[in-house]
Amino acid sequence: MCETLDNIFDIVVVGGGPGGYTAAFRAADLGLSVCLVEKRKRLGGVCLNEGCIPSKTLLHGTSLIEHASLGIDYGVTFEEPKVDIDVLLAKKESVITQLTNGLDRLGKARKITRLTGSGVFKNTSTLIVDDDSGKKKEVQFNNAIIATGSFPFVLPGLPDDPRIWDSSDALNITTVPEKLLIIGGGVIGMEMAQVYSALGSEITIVEMLDHIIPPADKDLVQPLFLKLKKKYQILTKTKVTGIVAGEDGLVASFESAKTNNSKTFDAVLVAVGRRPNSKELGLKEIELEISKQGFITVDEHLQTSLPNFYAVGDVVGEPMLAHKATHEGKVAAENIAGKNVTFNPKTIPSVAYTNPEIAWIGLTEKEASENNIDYNKGKFLWGASGRALSVNAATGVTKVLFDNKTGKILGAGICGSHAGELIHEAVLALEKGATAEEISNTIHAHPTLSETFAFAAEIVTGTITDALPPRKK
Ligand code: NAI
Repeated sequence: MCETLDNIFDIVVVGGGPGGYTAAFRAADLGLSVCLVEKRKRLGGVCLNEGCIPSKTLLHGTSLIEHASLGIDYGVTFEEPKVDIDVLLAKKESVITQLTNGLDRLGKARKITRLTGSGVFKNTSTLIVDDDSGKKKEVQFNNAIIATGSFPFVLPGLPDDPRIWDSSDALNITTVPEKLLIIGGGVIGMEMAQVYSALGSEITIVEMLDHIIPPADKDLVQPLFLKLKKKYQILTKTKVTGIVAGEDGLVASFESAKTNNSKTFDAVLVAVGRRPNSKELGLKEIELEISKQGFITVDEHLQTSLPNFYAVGDVVGEPMLAHKATHEGKVAAENIAGKNVTFNPKTIPSVAYTNPEIAWIGLTEKEASENNIDYNKGKFLWGASGRALSVNAATGVTKVLFDNKTGKILGAGICGSHAGELIHEAVLALEKGATAEEISNTIHAHPTLSETFAFAAEIVTGTITDALPPRKK
């Protein structure tokens, strides 16, 4: 049975994550009629339902355990903290519910037609929506925005076993394994390691590259690594070559240049990246161009190879980040509404919400060296920051790179408390092409962690007085 909706919508948006709902809301605000199709009952996609938001809630909850133990340095002691996992999960659920209900209200206020089900394109003006109960709806449209996101990559050859998790399984906390192996030392791996370590798991991390969180500079990640290596076993330049599922556990075999060995775990989290959701949408049939990796090809207007089709978010490529998707969603909607806008940011910030947090933007030092860029670096260690010492955050570091020719900022990285908040001053500086001198001359309140950004710039201008005097040339 297939019911055809009466209207011909200006836009059908497939996927109700940050990219999709933002595109739908912006399009409606620009006066377009919008049908938003999402297979989950709730809007928000992976970010809200099983990604950014639930992981941040769990990270905050479990970080309280560490904060409580650090009270001793200030003469404040507590009894051994206990975690009620049901309460923790209920808190996570309540945050998700509040936000997804909020999105429902925002969609209704904009008179957006919502359909729950999976969309498949029949042709370039018709989408069939299947709601899983056998009921189908046919939606006619003039333009489409595809925002179907991504799914966790499954390493080939692993056994089909409920003790082998992806990030969604890990966020459900159905059990706290005694020994947890995490394959992949990227953002998901490191954030989940922190949650499960706080809950009592013994953590082993296997990362095939030479340091954890490999897209950031190694020296930036070092304070986090030095802290964690006391608690976790971190195996870099190592691969898991196989896992055998037994009654008593999962036996993982490791291979590195130094050793080949194996160890038994109670659960394994695979966090080795994500892949685009571009299959099963009927894109091949409508001859929409897709790259070899499965990403939908788009230009800077987010327009695909078909003129009335746009695509945004994880499904168009890296970085797979909610804040990239939301900005792309607006650009796509505005172009369909007749504006001529491009998605051309100078940088998209990255944040790992570990403790300490790591945040970076623009060019990393590794990239600057590899590309023979003539740069100057200001690196301020937080041990010399009054605020950092006061709040037990002295191991942090702020590093800023400047172009030697233009004097303008090229990139920045921060490791430390609230790095994910502090980084945005650097984002603005990069977008606006600020120089080291301009940043140094911008008065920062004292004592703050934000000052460390200005201090890093002062190291480059040679005007720093909160560190040893600059070397005489
Ligand atoms: P990722 O790409 O960040 O990290 C995966 C890590 O696994 C890499 O370091 C890679 O070198 C390593 N790896 C790959 N294959 C391996 C193997 N066979 N053995 C050992 N190591 C291996 O991917 P992740 O952590 O799964 O996150 C997926 C996506 O979700 C990312 O694109 C990320 O941007 C996004 N995300 C962002 C968050 C944030 O902004 N805080 C939080 C969670 C996810």
